[in-house]
Amino acid sequence: MKKIVILASGNGTNAQAIIDHFAINDKVKISLILSNNSTAYVLERAQKNNIPAMSFNKYAFAKAGTIETLLLAEQPDIIVLAGFLWKIPGSLVKLFPNKIINIHPALLPKYGGKGMYGIHVHRAVIENKEQISGITIHYVNENYDEGAIIEQFSCPIYKEDTADELAARIHELEHQHFPVVIEKILS
Ligand code: GAR
Repeated sequence: MKKIVILASGNGTNAQAIIDHFAINDKVKISLILSNNSTAYVLERAQKNNIPAMSFNKYAFAKAGTIETLLLAEQPDIIVLAGFLWKIPGSLVKLFPNKIINIHPALLPKYGGKGMYGIHVHRAVIENKEQISGITIHYVNENYDEGAIIEQFSCPIYKEDTADELAARIHELEHQHFPVVIEKILS
């Protein structure tokens, strides 16, 4: 049985897409969902799907090593950042080399880095009058959005698009591809 641990900060629609994708696969399970936000809807999704879940604060995550200890005990085959907004400490990256992946809602290396998440990314893309955007699935290293790229998928941007409309299109692309890429990595 392969184990996936998901880290998410908010709504968790990507987490849900991953849960749904693997629901019929008896060789892969989502063993744990972790969030830095105790009121994140992703924690309710975990509960509804009978997946163990927990929230944590910055001290437990970056200083006390509590999350590292928890993850070492869990022994996941992959750690998936699905809308997780905190930087991953270097110590955690070292403990799980090439096992932590992230999804970013733009075509990196453009529109990445600190502060570039969610709607902020889509606003910047629209302001710059880009004609295409997309998603990047990449390994996580010590720097925001700089790890090796695994796969990218693009979508058009139409003339009158708002940032919200682009966000919706990007979410669709994420839900379609992210679980499949995870499955490929696991096999
Ligand atoms: C997703 O669009 C994901 O790409 C983005 O946050 C959203 C989370 O949505 N991640 C980042 O911006 C990371 N820099 P969700 O909670 O509905 O899955």
